[in-house]
Order: sequence, then C-alpha cells, then structure tokens
Amino acid sequence: MKKVGFIGWRGMVGSVLIKRMIDELDFDNFDSHFFSTSQAGQKNPEWNINFKNKLLIDAFDIQELSKMDIIMTCQGGDYTDKVFSKLRATGWDGHWVDAASTLRMEKNSVIVLDPLNQSSIDSSYDAGIKNWIGGNCTVSLMLLAIHGLLKEDLVEWVSSMTYQAASGAGANNMRELLSQMGQIYSSVSDDLNQKNSNILDIDSKALALMNSDKFQKNNFKVPLAGNLIPWIDEDLKNGQSREEWKGQSETNKILNSSFNSIKVDGLCVRIATMRSHCQALTIKLKKSIPIEAINERISNGNQWVKLIPNEKESSINLLSPAEVSGKLDIAVGRVRKLDIDKNCISLFTVGDQLLWGASEPIRRMLNILVRKGNG
Ligand code: HSE
Repeated sequence: MKKVGFIGWRGMVGSVLIKRMIDELDFDNFDSHFFSTSQAGQKNPEWNINFKNKLLIDAFDIQELSKMDIIMTCQGGDYTDKVFSKLRATGWDGHWVDAASTLRMEKNSVIVLDPLNQSSIDSSYDAGIKNWIGGNCTVSLMLLAIHGLLKEDLVEWVSSMTYQAASGAGANNMRELLSQMGQIYSSVSDDLNQKNSNILDIDSKALALMNSDKFQKNNFKVPLAGNLIPWIDEDLKNGQSREEWKGQSETNKILNSSFNSIKVDGLCVRIATMRSHCQALTIKLKKSIPIEAINERISNGNQWVKLIPNEKESSINLLSPAEVSGKLDIAVGRVRKLDIDKNCISLFTVGDQLLWGASEPIRRMLNILVRKGNG
C-alpha cells in the first residue's frame, strides 16, 4: 500500500477534506501517516482503527517526510515554502499534493481539477510530473460551472464579478464575521424590540459602531458584516488584485492541454457570507446559439452542475449560499442572453468554497495517484 502523509489535516480545509475522505472510504486504499507542525509525538486521530497507537510525526522532519510515497498538505503556503524545496533537495521523488497556492504556477506543477483536466493530469503523470496543486477557489468553481460550454469550445471570454465568502480568507475571518454580526445586533437589539423605534436611528447607531474602534476587525481590518470589501488579496499595482489576476492565469493553466485559451477578468469582492463563493459571469460565446441549447450544454457539463431555472422563485430559493453550502453542487442559474450583444450571456453560480473550492480537487487527485500507483 502507498504511504500517504497528511499535513494540515486539522485546519479548516483539512477537516473538510478528512470528512470527505471518511465518507468516501478513501482511507481503505492507502497507509495513512499523520504529521503535525506543533504536536509531534501526540496520539493519532482515531477515525480509523488502523491509525490507533501510531503517534503524530514531526511535519518538519525531512527524513520522516521522505519515507512517504505521497504527501498531502493543507497546512498553507508558509509550510510549503519551508519544507518543499528541502525535501526535494534530498532526492525525494514522491508526489506532493498541496492546497496552497505557492507552487501553482511553477512549470513542473499541474493545477488539478480532474473533471476538466484529466487528460492533462494523465500526460503530466506520464511525463514524470510529481507536484499536484489545488487551484484558486473562484477559478475551480467557475470552470466547473461553465464546463459544458468549455467542452465545446464555445467561450470567447468571461467577465467574472465575484461575491466571495469569509471562508476564503480563513477560519478566523469566519469567526470574525459572526462576531461582527453579533456586535451589530447587540448594539441595537433594545431599539429593535421597541415597536415604535425609528429605523434610521437604528441604522445610524449600527453604522457608528461599525466605524468605531470598538468593532472587531483584526482580521478583515474593516467591517464585513453590514458591508462588503471590494478587494481580495495583494495589490498588483496595475489596478488588479492578485485574486483577479488568478482568473485568467490559472484558468488557462488548467485548460491548456484540453481546450483553447480564453480571456478572463473581472472584479473580486468579499461579501458577508460564510462558505460559498458566488460569481456573476458575463460570457461572450464564439457564436450565437439558442438559449435552450445553452442551458442544455451547461446542465450536461458534469454531474455536479445543478441548473436552476431562470425565474424568481427558483433563483431566490435554490441559487444561494444558504442552499448550496455543505454540498458538492455547483448551482448555476440566471442564464439568459444579454441585450448588449447577441453572443453575450449572463450566468450566476454558487459553489461551496471549502468543498469544490478547496478540498475536493486534491482529494480526487490523491485517489488518482493511488490508482495509478497501484495499477
Ligand atoms: N483566495 C480565495 C479567497 C480563497 O480569498 O476567497 C482561496 O482560493
């Protein structure tokens, strides 16, 4: 059995990954070893009888890491920075599967999203590539949503306006969002309970709190509850954020071998939702096709796409973070031809940032490697 080492399995993405792996019985297929950056020597988790009595291994011990056939890390970019090169420098030629962005654009890495780039994964594997990196969440979720259009090479360009959840910024940011919501409510709850209170007074009170030093904003630096943040990740100093830059660069790296290159750009915005990213896409198609055919193609893109009819009741009930969070569904709706150009369509998509946005592509990649290795 292949030896698989897990690092960062207790964090937010790691926990979602482990839960999926337990649900899918993945652990039956390899010999698992759990590493820790802070609790080496302590007892292993007990999800599986096979892990009992083995102790956590030091995640910085290069010799121990080099005993693994596959390393699966959700520990984050700092860990990858510290360990990856040192480990490779020892001559270790196992497979490195990573949720962090550090190695994504390296020549000898593949961004994994197997429903779209299985052929690229196969040819890279055959060519000896050993670094398999999960993509940016908005990019993976967008590509899964428009898979059916990409398959038929129908997409000329995409403008993606994102509505990104707090989870993309990290676990502490999710906590902070809820704390901010609670702080706002507490500051006005007495007024809300009085029937005749004035909503404009309540609004002023809430706003004053949000803009005061009392408001908890260590992580986001500004209010997210009752607000939004129109910038995600670094400022690239060309008017674009790093999150926006990833749209085109990662899309084309993922699609390269399977499809022709496409242009992607737009604005990335953080909103006060917990764990599902939404995106409003404007797509320029290469030709004009009837809306029914567009819907059919989108719907048949892959088994996770759930096409929501473009009407009010379905859209407000089914095309939302509250509906999609915790599921593998990629909800796609509001599909219509735009009046601005006969080849332009709109589309709104929602996907869980921690599932298909982060853990599922690397979970599937691990299984691909295990199958190939055993084959
Ligand atoms: N960069 C994304 C975000 C999450 O901030 O929402 C990671 O892909």
